[in-house]
Amino acid sequence: MSSTETASDIEAPGEKVDGLSLLRRIWERRSTAPRHLVAAGPSEDEIRMIVRAASRAPDHMRLKPFRFLVIPADARESLADVFEAAECELDPGIAGEKLERAREKALHAPTLLAVISRVQERDEVPEIEQRASAGAALGYLLLAADLLGYGAMAVSGGKVATTAMRRAFHLADNEALLCFVGVGTPGKSKRALPEPDPALLQAWSRE
Ligand SMILES: Cc1cc2nc3c(=O)[nH]c(=O)nc-3n(C[C@H](O)[C@H](O)[C@H](O)COP(=O)(O)O)c2cc1C
Repeated sequence: MSSTETASDIEAPGEKVDGLSLLRRIWERRSTAPRHLVAAGPSEDEIRMIVRAASRAPDHMRLKPFRFLVIPADARESLADVFEAAECELDPGIAGEKLERAREKALHAPTLLAVISRVQERDEVPEIEQRASAGAALGYLLLAADLLGYGAMAVSGGKVATTAMRRAFHLADNEALLCFVGVGTPGKSKRALPEPDPALLQAWSRE
C-alpha cells in the first residue's frame, strides 16, 4: 500500500459490506485460540491493512500510545526461547511438558503480532486515556482481521511483563507489552454470543 493511497482506493478481498452488515459482523465476532488457527495467515498487504485499521483508534492529541511488531516466521523459534526464559523467570522450577507447552505458544498461529502500549507524560492526556487508546487499537485490529476473513485472538499471560520479555522486545521504560495477537484461518469456529445484558446500558441519573 503506498502512502498516497486513500481508503477508497483500496480493494479489500472478501465481501463488500454496508453499515448493517458490518455491525452484524462485529456483533458476531469471536476469538479463535492460536492453537486453532491454521494456514493461511494474512499477506503482508493484509497485515498492513489490519494495522491501518488499528491506527484509527481514538487517540487524544495523536500521541499514538501503541505500536505493533510482527514476528517473522523465521524468528518463531527464537521467540520460543524467549517464552521459555520468561516462564523460567516466573517459575524457576518449571520443566518438562510445562516448558514445552510454553515454547509451543510461540509457534501457534500462522501470523503473530505483538501489541505494545506506550504512555507519555502529558497533563492533557492522563494515563488511563492512553491505555484505553491502546485497548481500542487492539479491538480495531481484531475486527479488521475478522473482516478480512481471518480468526484472531489476543493472548498474554504473566510472561508479557517479565524482564526476559521486556528485554527481548527492547521495551522503553514507558512501554508495556499488552499482548500477542495470533491471526490465521480458523480451524474451528465458535458460536456468536447472545445479546448483552440490558443492564449494560442505563440512563444516567444524579439521584
Ligand atoms: C489484552 C488481552 C489479553 C488477553 N490474554 C488472554 C490470555 O492470555 N488467555 C486467554 O484465554 N484469553 C485472553 N484474553 C481474552 C481473549 O482474547 C478473548 O477476548 C476471550 O477469550 C473472549 O473471547 P471472544 O472474543 O470470543 O468473546 C485477552 C484479552 C485481552 C484484551
